[in-house]
Amino acid sequence: MILDQVHDVGSGQVFLRLPGYLEHADTVLKLEGLNPAGSIKLKTAREMVSTALAAGELRSGGHLIESTSGNLGVALATICAAEGIRLTVVTDPNANSRSVQCIRALGADVVIVTERDANGGFLQTRIDDIKRRLLADPELVWLNQYSNAANAQAHRRTTAREITDEFGAPDWLFVGVGSSGTLMGCLDHFRTIGAATRIVAVDAAGSVTFGGPAGPRTIPGLGASRRPEIFRDAGDFEKCVVAEADTVRVCREVARRYGLLLGGSTGTALAALTAMRHRIAPRSRVVVVSPDLGERYLDTIYDDDWVALHFGPELLRAAGIAAAEFGGSAPEQLFTTGS
Ligand SMILES: Cc1ncc(COP(=O)(O)O)c(C=O)c1O
Repeated sequence: MILDQVHDVGSGQVFLRLPGYLEHADTVLKLEGLNPAGSIKLKTAREMVSTALAAGELRSGGHLIESTSGNLGVALATICAAEGIRLTVVTDPNANSRSVQCIRALGADVVIVTERDANGGFLQTRIDDIKRRLLADPELVWLNQYSNAANAQAHRRTTAREITDEFGAPDWLFVGVGSSGTLMGCLDHFRTIGAATRIVAVDAAGSVTFGGPAGPRTIPGLGASRRPEIFRDAGDFEKCVVAEADTVRVCREVARRYGLLLGGSTGTALAALTAMRHRIAPRSRVVVVSPDLGERYLDTIYDDDWVALHFGPELLRAAGIAAAEFGGSAPEQLFTTGS
């Protein structure tokens, strides 16, 4: 296969079964971390940039600015380098150092805000920073993934269809929520075709998207300290909130059991599946969207000192002990499930 553009290199058809993850149901990851930008955000970036170019809001040689926790920045930097578009990425201290290195290596400028917003996160600070820069420079274009309809459209046209092309209507679909573009796109597609699939939206504890209290979060990808404008709760999906400690534990256990380094939000989605396992009927087909892989998290989730510092050494011990008996026997009290 010979492709002409870097953002055409994708992995939409790649699914990976995790045998025995649940004893009674088939668990399959939809692997989105195998493209040149290393995450599902390449789809979002491609759709948002091509829509803006087609609408004349952006031109080759123009200057984009975007707020991102890392992955969208890498994806936009990949596309902007190829399209001759200047890019400024506004991020925060939770961004992976490798993502920031990638963005800079691809020729984009990176601004790291350090002041927390009223909810204790950084999202509003990032957005305020962008608004100041837009006022000062009328040439700047902000695509704003949190309010851009092309974000959900990307996933309606790709991610969701790739799942139904492979499975028809799986019984369950677990999707992490950051900007909520993946979730909204999947909901649109699955409801349009009348699929009976139960969709579970998974968020990190401390995110305000589902209406819960704001709290500190350290793992980038999921969650928001301000509800995304494109997020709509029409009551047609379930919600599961996962503590970051569970995310880390699942990532560490899956690495040892399956030889796969998961990104944080995949661990979060799998932790939600574990927490809800009693509701999954025998022989169900479960699809879990895996937005990225684990190399970007080597100095956080997969670093013993970092884990001990943030979650205590007992989490490492629990992950090591639980690894042998993982898949249905994880202590339920570790999980926070609710709406
Ligand atoms: C690793 C990772 N997981 C999950 C998500 C959430 O995807 P969405 O923004 O479509 O809700 C993102 C988005 O940035 C991400 O980078």
